[in-house]
Amino acid sequence: MKLLTIAIAKGRVADEAIQLIERTGLYFPDYHNESRKLLFTDDRKHIKLIFVKAVDVPTYVEKGAADIGLVGKDVLMEDPKEVYELMDLGIGKCKLSVAGFVGAEITESSYLSVASKYPNVAKAYFEEMNIRTDIIKLNGSVELAPLIGMADVIVDIVETGTTLKENGLTVLADIVDISVKLIVNKASYAIKTDEIQQFMKHLYAGLEVRI
Ligand code: PRP
Repeated sequence: MKLLTIAIAKGRVADEAIQLIERTGLYFPDYHNESRKLLFTDDRKHIKLIFVKAVDVPTYVEKGAADIGLVGKDVLMEDPKEVYELMDLGIGKCKLSVAGFVGAEITESSYLSVASKYPNVAKAYFEEMNIRTDIIKLNGSVELAPLIGMADVIVDIVETGTTLKENGLTVLADIVDISVKLIVNKASYAIKTDEIQQFMKHLYAGLEVRI
């Protein structure tokens, strides 16, 4: 059995991802959700997990530093990489949406300033709608932009809706449903076909019994 390296996005879905992986019978004795460690190996040395920033997961996989990556579709849409996208893990479910003040007008005649961590997705969405935009790339706290007059609307992840609500904003349009995908390095898939397929099969079996 060849060792598989799996890159996982640090943050809110990391715990759920590890739980899914542990359901395949793998066990990471050192892992706990408050650990600052960035690399874990299972007790039988089949899998090495590396924890990286979500936006970097596809890069690790494309370059072959990881064979497999678990990452949100939002990241893959914003910055597509040369990797295989082979499974939907059904975790980390949320939406990419346009949000702003209640009643904000989004029409073909409008010229919108749009703040987002996802400038490429935002640009493509509004181009499709024939709406002219000035896109402002931010790296976080995007909901602040309309509040301080820096942007008319935002394009961002909405999960529970709490962040929008607490900042007096609302969803104006949904762009796409998001969840965590399993991606695979193209060369790894050729060299470690059995290991990767076995891993996916076990993961899938675990997914099927999820409630
Ligand atoms: C994400 C997103 C929203 C929030 C949505 O931000 O950008 O701000 O979560 O979640 P909710 O609908 O459940 O409130 P994140 O927590 O990743 O922090 P950031 O603003 O620093 O990027």
